[in-house]
Parts: sequence; structure tokens; C-alpha cells
Amino acid sequence: KIVHVLLTGGVGSRLWPLSRKQSPKQYLPLFDGQSLFEMTVQRNQQVADQVVVVGNKDNTHLSHKAMINCGLPYKNIVEATPRNTAAAIAFAAFAVEPEDILIVTPSDHMIAGDQEYRDAIESGIAKAKEGHIVTFGIYPTRPETGYGYIEYYGDAVKSFREKPNQDTAEDFIEKGNFLWNSGMFCFQASVFLEELEQYEPEVFEKAKVVWENANDGFLDEQLSLDIPSISVDYAVMERSKKIRVIPTTFEWSDLGSFEALYDYFITNGYPKDENGNIVIGTEVFTGFVGLKQTIFVHTKDAFLVVQKEKSQDVKKIYNMLEKHQ
Ligand code: GDD
Ligand code: MG
Repeated sequence: KIVHVLLTGGVGSRLWPLSRKQSPKQYLPLFDGQSLFEMTVQRNQQVADQVVVVGNKDNTHLSHKAMINCGLPYKNIVEATPRNTAAAIAFAAFAVEPEDILIVTPSDHMIAGDQEYRDAIESGIAKAKEGHIVTFGIYPTRPETGYGYIEYYGDAVKSFREKPNQDTAEDFIEKGNFLWNSGMFCFQASVFLEELEQYEPEVFEKAKVVWENANDGFLDEQLSLDIPSISVDYAVMERSKKIRVIPTTFEWSDLGSFEALYDYFITNGYPKDENGNIVIGTEVFTGFVGLKQTIFVHTKDAFLVVQKEKSQDVKKIYNMLEKHQ
């Protein structure tokens, strides 16, 4: 069967105060009343036979609420403490049949172009059935250092480079034969586990112990702390010989920062003043004088004023806070 695995780990600190520890960004109803989490589930509903949500104990109830209207059978894997994506995906692979095909997606990306998306997923499934680990590539538009890069030729991956530095990223863009890694993957459960065991045996072994001691999907905290925290990109994608890439044609955006959210909103007709300032949040009249491309975020107990191009630094405020996180 085909299983859609949703990863829902992060707190979304760069979208504070919209995104909170108790209500991370993927659950916020920002898009015509829908959340990114719900939209991700719907996008995969037609191809999937089952959904597995891997998230932490603080957001289980939010995932559950978002899953209520999904007609598919669904399992929750509840992490007591985050151990990064290599382990999170391993739990999902342990939870299903070895021959099942997993479509692994983050729950906080914006994707437009349903048909293009489904076509990409269908090709991914076909390659996964041949024993490949498929990643979905995005044509890059800037030398972003927060993403992984895939050096490709057709569907072959010459190299996978997670989060390069600025110079290297610029070099990749200039060369032209690089795609961004979307962070979405497709593979057979057993193939992933074999590769993980080969390249990160400790993650494999310890995640297996945690899974074998799980109680109805709830993972033990002490045992979990033994698992090395490493992302799937470094653990498997950079090393496996079984990787294939599907260059995609759908519109993709990792709405991880206010800058990305701003661009998305503006392209979709969100109101702005003549200097490109915008207001997000409750309906309070806000005037901007002498400011350009400033984002003003109102919430019940916190305001944020941020210049668009400084959006990455919002996480510094988040990290400074003890209250109001
Ligand atoms: N359940 C669970 N547990 N989920 C997790 C954990 C964890 O411990 N850690 C991260 N995740 C989830 C996040 O919530 C997110 O949905 C997804 O896994 C990816 O993690 P990020 O922390 O957002 O990774 P990244 O943005 O730094 O990099 C990845 O995504 C980029 C595209 O957005 C990489 O795959 C890059 O190569 C890729 O370009
Ligand atoms: Mg991310």
C-alpha cells in the first residue's frame, strides 16, 4: 500500500508571534481558513491508502484535530523528544509493512498545481517500486543556503549537498545543473531502513529499540535520547547510491519565514500600502510612516515589526523569550 507520512516537528520560531510553541505554523488557518497541515493531507489523499503522522507530544492534539475530516486510516507516532528527521522517518518505516511505499512530506510547505503535484508523485511511486529513494527537486531561483542542493543529470543524482555556504550556493546556481531538495521523499520502507542501517547504523539500531518499546505509538523519552540527532539529508541522502530525483513543475515554497510568507501573500493579492508594508493578524488599523516593506504582526499578546529582508532574524527574538514563546 501507499502511505503518506507527515513530519510535523518544528516550532516555526521564525514566524513568531504568529507561530507559537503551543500552535506551530503548520496548524494556523492562514489560507482561507485552512492550515498548511490540512492542505498537505488533502493533496496526498487521493494517492495514499493510509496516513502516518510523526510529531511531538505537544502537537498531537492539533494533528488529531486536523485529521478528523480525512477519510483515510491514520496512525499517530508521538515523539517524547525530537530526534531529527532520520529517526522520525525510521519510526514511520518501522510502523508499516516492509513493502509499503512511503511518501514523506513536511507539513509546512505551500504547493500549488495539483495536477503537476500528482504527476510528480505518480512518477515517484513508480521509481520507488523499482527500489530507488526518490527526492523531488525544485528549480532554484536564488543562492539560498537554507536548503539542500541536488546536482543532477536527468533523474540521476551526481551529488547531494545539504545546506552549502554562500559561495558554494552561488557556484551551484551559476553551474545550472542543481535543484533544491524539496524535503519530500518517496521510497519503499525496507529500502530506506536498509540504507539507514548501512550509513547510520547507530540511528537505525537505537530507533529500532525505541520502536520496539513503543506503547501504541507513544515513544519512550529516555530511550529516544540515545538516538543520534541527524537529519535524513546528512544520514541517507548525501550518501546513498539509490537516490533518484524528479525535477518538479509544481509551485513550491517553504513558508518558513515572514519574507517567504510576504512574497506568497503579495503574489496572491494580499493588501499592502504604497510602500509595500503589510499587516498580518487581528484587524487593527495600522499606519506606516517612512517605512518600506515592513511587516507588522499583531496577535493577542505580542506585536512584531520586522523589515522584510531581516525576516530570518526573528528566531533570535523567539530564542530570547521565556514567556510568550
Ligand atoms: N516528527 C519530527 N521529528 N519531525 C521533524 C523533526 C523531528 O525530530 N525534525 C524536523 N522535523 C520536520 C520539520 O517539522 C519539517 O517538516 C521537516 O521535518 C524538515 O525539517 P526542517 O528542520 O524544516 O529541515 P530544513 O528546512 O532545515 O531542511 C530540509 O528541508 C529543506 C526544504 O524545506 C532539508 O530536507 C533540505 O534539504 C530541504 O532543502
Ligand atoms: Mg524547513
